[in-house]
Amino acid sequence: MTKYEQIQQELAKSPKTWLVTGVAGFIGSNLLETLLKLDQTVVGLDNFATGYQHNLYEVKDLVSEAQWERFIFIEGDIRELKTCQKAVKGIDYVLHQAALGSVPRSIADPIETNAANITGFLNMLHAAKEEVVSSFTYAASSSTYGDHPALPKVEESIGNPLSPYAVTKYVNELYANVYNYVYGFKAIGLRYFNVFGQRQDPNGTYSAVIPRWTSQLINGDDVFINGDGITSRDFCFIDNTVQMNILAATAPEQAKAQVYNVAVGERTTLNTLYSSIQSSLIINGIKNYDKPIYRDFRAGDVRHSQADISKAKDNLGYEPEFNIKQGIEKAMPWYVDFLKRNV
Ligand SMILES: NC(=O)c1ccc[n+]([C@@H]2O[C@H](COP(=O)([O-])OP(=O)(O)OC[C@H]3O[C@@H](n4cnc5c(N)ncnc54)[C@H](O)[C@@H]3O)[C@@H](O)[C@H]2O)c1
Repeated sequence: MTKYEQIQQELAKSPKTWLVTGVAGFIGSNLLETLLKLDQTVVGLDNFATGYQHNLYEVKDLVSEAQWERFIFIEGDIRELKTCQKAVKGIDYVLHQAALGSVPRSIADPIETNAANITGFLNMLHAAKEEVVSSFTYAASSSTYGDHPALPKVEESIGNPLSPYAVTKYVNELYANVYNYVYGFKAIGLRYFNVFGQRQDPNGTYSAVIPRWTSQLINGDDVFINGDGITSRDFCFIDNTVQMNILAATAPEQAKAQVYNVAVGERTTLNTLYSSIQSSLIINGIKNYDKPIYRDFRAGDVRHSQADISKAKDNLGYEPEFNIKQGIEKAMPWYVDFLKRNV
């Protein structure tokens, strides 16, 4: 039995109360779905800045009535300390996901990104510390590696941040360290590497590459590759990310006050990614054989990214269940269905 299977069994036997911030977003709504299916009680907090009511309705349809009744939703903003204090009341485990994602968004509006990602983060961390919750797990980011050239990325070696977004995620880690040093409050940071999967928003200026290309290929729109297509990423399917959150939340004391890479440990170029999405869509009945259009590199993007995941494996028992190909195969039917429903 894997560590993850063991923890899931323990949680199902002895349910806990969780707070998921950013619950109406991509990662948050997937955490909600898994936790409710494990019969946990979940408090969710979101202000719908980039999240959607339809994500919550979708989860409602995927769980039983009794499970849905264990979900309490607070519409509120993490930039307000009082809202965070209300949300953490009686919580065992906090999974803090709420933030404004996207490097380009942070370049266009660093002030808004700073407010949600730094002020909002500090409010949540502080409220959780005051409530003496059992654990506080937060969404950090691979963008913290910045201009550090080493591959694969190991947690201890980071470079200079390359965008306002990367600064905010690094500051989260600094605050988490200081809260351990000053108050003995041991948070866990999860450095996500390009997460993808069902319910990741395909629309809008700041959508991520997999949902954006998928939607463009389905709609027959032009698909652009920034740069030469050799740029590479360690794409991580959402179910692996959910696994890491649950392992981190329930981790023993000695595994806390740390940051962990959350990825698969493989590297895929944008050219290969494009072909994989195209092939998977063909299997799903969308026959688009168009070639991508190459254009300039994008400001703030790192060239290559790949994680060393041995720390997460050793300390937390993490075993990614899906590689990129398996993740794309699992996610595509959802996109085809979602985009058909929303034309
Ligand atoms: N998706 C990725 O590849 C990736 C990579 C690295 C880090 N992350 C981090 O993971 C977390 C979740 O990202 P996601 O991909 O699910 O994005 P998302 O935009 O789908 O979800 C973020 C959620 O946070 C909510 N939110 C934003 N500001 C808020 C505020 N002030 N108060 C309350 N709620 C607020 C949004 O409405 C949204 O529902 C973020 O912290 C993001 O920075 C994501």
